[in-house]
Amino acid sequence: MQDFETLLIETRGDVGLITLNRPKALNALNSTVMRELTQALRSFDGDPQVGAIVLAGSEKAFAAGADIKEMQPVNFVDAYLDDLLGGWEAIAATRKPIIAAVSGYALGGGCELAMMCDFIIAAENAKFGQPEITLGVIPGMGGSQRLTRAVGKAKAMDLVLTGRMMDAAEAERAGLVARIVSAERLLEEALEAAAKIASSSRVAVLMAKDAVNRADELTLAEGLRLERRLFQSLFATADQKEGMAAFMEKRKPDFTNR
Ligand code: CAA
Repeated sequence: MQDFETLLIETRGDVGLITLNRPKALNALNSTVMRELTQALRSFDGDPQVGAIVLAGSEKAFAAGADIKEMQPVNFVDAYLDDLLGGWEAIAATRKPIIAAVSGYALGGGCELAMMCDFIIAAENAKFGQPEITLGVIPGMGGSQRLTRAVGKAKAMDLVLTGRMMDAAEAERAGLVARIVSAERLLEEALEAAAKIASSSRVAVLMAKDAVNRADELTLAEGLRLERRLFQSLFATADQKEGMAAFMEKRKPDFTNR
């Protein structure tokens, strides 16, 4: 993959690692980050060697929000015509699982970017918030929708209306964060979780992600039907045969992603 101005990219085995790299701006999310991150994710999505992706920031900040310096001069007509922040939705269209490894600030667009990932592993020093209201605006990258689905209306209203931050423990209690680890262990833990995902059948992993994501969009009856059809369709894969044979033979499965 090419070099990026705002990202560091590497692969560790079959895991793609993307590190936001604008340390002086606490990884504020400008249009270059949006363009490069979309490109990097698309490239990992299409790379058969990669089974899962980790998105990380720095120890001080996962990302402190959309870039306020870039947004400050924008007027309504330009925001509307250019669909300001609309391009970020491409991140959530990534088909392979993305784990957000969050240390430090995940504010505004930073919290929203973490929520576009499939789950969040947080360091003990992580701080989440939607402080847009303090700037005279509201969340614009999904905060009012994804946060409400993740933590419920009461806490989402509290965070969005007051702009206060919540720490990692509160975020985990509220259901926003999957696991909390020490800051030193964060990247290792996220990479291990991603490697575990990458070692499973690729088709099953993508279907599992798809099925869970549909839970927010479908009625229970439609969601259950979709899940069952996806489950049944996996019996057409060699990996289902291998996974179940390996269980019966008390050995580790050797998935071929077919
Ligand atoms: N945009 C642009 N620059 C930012 C930024 C942001 N969101 N957040 C931090 N920075 C810059 C600061 O301007 C500063 O740059 P300079 O040295 O050039 O002045 C540098 O990063 C370091 O920041 P601070 O000196 O402020 O660091 P701190 O440790 O004192 O405070 C902080 C940390 C509490 C996170 C503080 O930086 C802060 O409040 N940042 C803004 C958070 C915010 O409001 N985010 C929401 C943005 S709007 C949005 O995201 C809309 C949306 O829904 C998508």
